[in-house]
Order: sequence, then C-alpha cells, then structure tokens
Amino acid sequence: VPEVRNGDDHRGGVGAGLLTAAAVRGADGELRCEGVPLRRIAAAAGTPVYVYNGHTIRDRYQRLQAALASVPHRLHYTLKANSSAAVLRVVRQLGAGVDVVSGGELHRARCAGFAGSDVVFGGVGKTDDELRAGLAAGVLLFNVESAGELRRLDAIAREVGVRAPIGLRINPEVSLEAAHAYIKTGERGQKFGIPWDDAIPVAELALSLGGVELVGLDMHLGSQLTRIDPYRAGVARLVDIWRQLRDLGVDTLRYLDIGGGLGVRYDTEASPDLDRFADMVLPLVRETGLTLLMEPGRFLVGNAGVLLTRVIDTKHSGGKDFVIVDAGMTELLRPSHYGAYHRVEPVAPPGEPSTIVDVVGPVCESGDFLALDRPLPPVADGDLIAILDVGAYGYVMASNYNSRPRAAEVLVEGDRFAVVTRRETVEDLVRLEIPDPDWRT
Ligand code: LLP
Repeated sequence: VPEVRNGDDHRGGVGAGLLTAAAVRGADGELRCEGVPLRRIAAAAGTPVYVYNGHTIRDRYQRLQAALASVPHRLHYTLKANSSAAVLRVVRQLGAGVDVVSGGELHRARCAGFAGSDVVFGGVGKTDDELRAGLAAGVLLFNVESAGELRRLDAIAREVGVRAPIGLRINPEVSLEAAHAYIKTGERGQKFGIPWDDAIPVAELALSLGGVELVGLDMHLGSQLTRIDPYRAGVARLVDIWRQLRDLGVDTLRYLDIGGGLGVRYDTEASPDLDRFADMVLPLVRETGLTLLMEPGRFLVGNAGVLLTRVIDTKHSGGKDFVIVDAGMTELLRPSHYGAYHRVEPVAPPGEPSTIVDVVGPVCESGDFLALDRPLPPVADGDLIAILDVGAYGYVMASNYNSRPRAAEVLVEGDRFAVVTRRETVEDLVRLEIPDPDWRT
C-alpha cells in the first residue's frame, strides 16, 4: 500500500503539490489529519464519519486566487460539492462568494452568512419559487439557461417591482474529455445552457425585456476536467458572443463566468496546471475588461475530505475476498454511480503484504462498493479504513437508503477537531412522517 504524504505523488511526480492529502501517515505510521490521529476522531465521533481538513481547503483557494490574480475576478464556491455549514464558514472567511443551484442551497448560503450579493444563482430548472427567493435575497446574478426561464424571470421581477440581474449560460458546445459521461455538460445536445446557435437571439430577447438586466455571460464545461484546452475553447466562444453584443451596442455586461470543473487527483490523473490555465485563459478574459467569475467546487474541497469507516466483516466467496465496512454507496455514491476511483488506506500502519480485495458496503445492492480489486493489507473486524478524497460530492450525495442514518461530519483545524454535523439518529429517519394523516377527497 503506497504511503500518502503531504505534497507527495505516490505514483510519480506529476502535479506534486496539488496532491496534498487531507490525511497523511505520522511518524508512528498511523493515518492522521494534520495533528489529529484519525483513530481519535473515530473513537469520539463514531463511524462512518467524514473528516475535512480546513488547511487543505485554504491551500487550494489560495493557489487558485494566485493564478487568477492578474485579472479582476471572484471565486464563487459551488455549494453542490459540499454544502456543510462548517465548510461554508471556511470558504466565507477566505472571501469567496458562492454558486447555488436551488432554494435549499440559497438558504444554506444565507445561513452561513453570505450576502445576497455574494451569490450566483444557477441551475437548469429553477422554479418560480426559487426565482422569487433569489430576487428577495438580491443575488448578484441569475445564470439563465433558456428563453423560457428568461421570460418567467422577467415576469416575476416586474411583478415584484425589481430588475433581475442576469447572466446567460451559453452551451459552448466544445468537445470534452471527462472522467464519466454524466459529468460532461458543455457538449452539444445536453440539457444545460442555451444552445450556441440561440445565444444572440436570446440575448436580444433579454435586452428587450424590462424586468431583467443582462450583466453576464456564463458557461460550464463539465466536472473533473484534467485538460485545460476546453477552457480556452469555451472562453473563446463566450468572448465571441461578448464581441457580437458589444458591436450591437450592449454596454451593461460586467461578468464573464466560466463555471467550475477543475479536476483533482484521485489516482494517476494529472492535476490541472494552474499557471498554464492562467496563460491560456486570462488573455482572452483581459480583452473583455469583464470581471472573471469561477465556480470551483471539487478543486477546493475534493482532496480535503476523508471517509472513515470500520470493518464489519470479511468474507471469501467465489474466489474473491470481500471487506465489508460500515460505509457504502449511501455515504459515497461515486464509485457505484460513476465507476470513480478513491484511494483506500488502513488507518493503522500497513504491515503485512497486501492482497486483492473488494471493499464493499452493507447496503443490499450488488452495486454497493467503495473499491474493487484493490490491494489492501490484511484487516480484521473493527479495523479502521480511510477512503480518501471524498470532500466533494460525498456527503451531499448521501442517502438514507436501507434506512441508514446519515453519518457525522468533523472539521480538523491544526491539532483540534470538532463534530460540525451530528450523526442522524433513527428517530430522524421517521421525523417527517405523519402517523395520523389528514385524508382528503
Ligand atoms: N458550476 C456549475 C454550473 C456546475 O454544474 C458545477 C458542477 C460546478 C460549477 C462545479 O463543478 P466542479 O468544480 O465541482 O467540477 N457528482 C459528480 C459531479 C457533478 C458536477 C455537477 N456540476 C461527481 O461526483 O463527480
């Protein structure tokens, strides 16, 4: 089992520095998160538990900020990656804004202290109620995804007596390589954004409506992108539209939002080279004089989280070895849903040689696994295992399937840790159910 060390690439050198793991082995060989042994967190908070390293989030934020420093810009952290209040507090203290895609995320952002003007409101299907909530909060802008949404927002804004600031999310229709088809969004024929050919007509419609003000252009390519060139192609297409609008005399544009999508390292993939990213993208942005907005999610939090789980049982069946742990697809859907790879490490010092195992959860589905055909040193019932790089799209995609209460979340800062989200209880599972329902005809 490869050792995980801060800043080290355990498989060979590319992008070192962006590999900072949330958990590393101490001198005693035990996995720890900063100054806190993971064993201590499991003892205090139980398992399964997500552990986040505040330092990793700040480190990523500062790297990205530095790369974009030569143009006016703001990072709008994407809540969907991890909307835990404790993570939002870390991000807010750094000075970030947020990107939300639902009334629920807007509520969380407001609870965490973000002002309306810190919020970019995106999403392919915003309901009237969500649009109203965004207007009431005074969001920086709505990224509008269709002519229909534009008309609805215009009508609601006029009814409320305000003018809604909008960006147009254009589908740049560039071809992409992403880890999985489900996380590509900026190719032709996807549900997201305004089709490229309709961009100018929809912009003209926006300019003709009294309830909206066109202040931005927006795109989002996809997620877990490890190549930079699609950003250049996509930004070039947005700049093309900016130019056409400028030639039409439009002078209200202020923001160029290029979405999220920067990849992180889970296994052997290369981390995006931020300097190259800046060299390829910023000159195009500079030409427009607009403020650059980015909506990073995974890049800030992906490598910052660890899922701590305990071995319940081991089994040899059909020529395979299974390690059954107390976390599964209900805590981390990514392996099952996208075939995603997450490193698996025993918390104790890895001693004896590894054998090949499947690490699986307790959920009644054959698709409930965390890692397949993976080398792992021998483990016994009760041993702790860490699943790495679960800070993005981990807890937020958790479910209660099999009536499993959602796990707790812990934040580590230096040599201190705190439970920041309590574990659900079995009472929580039935809390919303109505024992004596009000029958109607
Ligand atoms: N902006 C928009 C409009 C998005 O749709 C997304 C992600 C982001 C920003 C942030 O992307 P990021 O920087 O995190 O790549 N559940 C999947 C990922 C879905 C991403 C959806 N959109 C996974 O676990 O890989």
